[in-house]
Amino acid sequence: MSAAARRPRVIDGIAELREVVCERRAAGASVAFVPTMGALHDGHLALVRRATETADVVIVSVFVNPLQFGPGEDLDRYPRTLDADLDALTGRGVDVVFAPTVAEMYPDGPSSTRVTAGAVGALYEGASRPGHFDGMLTVVAKLFGIVQPDVAYFGQKDAQQVFLVQRMVRDLDLPIRVEVVPTVREADGLALSSRNRFLSPAERRAALTLSEALRAAEAAGPQGVAEVLAEAEAAFGASETVQPDYLVVVDPVTLLPVEPEASGPALVLVAARVGATRLIDNALISLR
Ligand code: PAJ
Repeated sequence: MSAAARRPRVIDGIAELREVVCERRAAGASVAFVPTMGALHDGHLALVRRATETADVVIVSVFVNPLQFGPGEDLDRYPRTLDADLDALTGRGVDVVFAPTVAEMYPDGPSSTRVTAGAVGALYEGASRPGHFDGMLTVVAKLFGIVQPDVAYFGQKDAQQVFLVQRMVRDLDLPIRVEVVPTVREADGLALSSRNRFLSPAERRAALTLSEALRAAEAAGPQGVAEVLAEAEAAFGASETVQPDYLVVVDPVTLLPVEPEASGPALVLVAARVGATRLIDNALISLR
């Protein structure tokens, strides 16, 4: 069987993972890393594809990180589908799936040292999910320390996450290159998400509002910020199924809201609750 057709080796211990990486490194191999929470879909697989194109050894982590879920969020119902994830990764050139238990990652309980996401971490997703980004950065820093990859792949789908990870790597001088992969969408525009599986058929149709709002925002770009917001908000209409959370036009470099007269590239971030499921999406647009 060729290496590419093999099912990835599953490792659940930090020490064993380190050993495998050390051996491969000593033999001169470069290491790429794709952190995930599992329930893999084609969005995750796009990251994996990029990783296999650039490095000798590809490690995918599957870990539903309790630290980044708030009280009352969907930690308990978050899909855990390791067998299906391994099937999805078979034949794709992944060497190792690192799937630790919560006890392996947090042996002393959750109240360990935290990485803080700062002011930008309290905006948008962070405003709706207090502590989420501190928990996310903490586990990403831990995973970087465990895997010690040359390069790590993240999706543009989670624009604020990517911004914060890149800033952490800069601020803490972590010797890791962060690569961003464009958002993978369904044919009709819905961004792939592990949470899409919770949507009923009616909610699935209603969920299109997010990508439609982004398309409207993009079309209105030449008319400026106010028009972008007005057009995108109009796409939400008065649906009962879709409850918008935030819709903001931000500077892609600072992630802070743009001035009303801004021009040039901007990022539109949107979040909404569709039934009981919270979805996010974003698009890069051009103002004026
Ligand atoms: P998860 O939601 O599983 O996402 C893992 C990676 O896949 C992230 O970098 C995310 O941006 C990317 N991704 C998800 N949907 C995508 C899509 N439709 N197109 C392209 N990329 C997509 O994000 C996390 O897990 C966690 O916060 C994690 C970074 C693993 C830390 O726990």
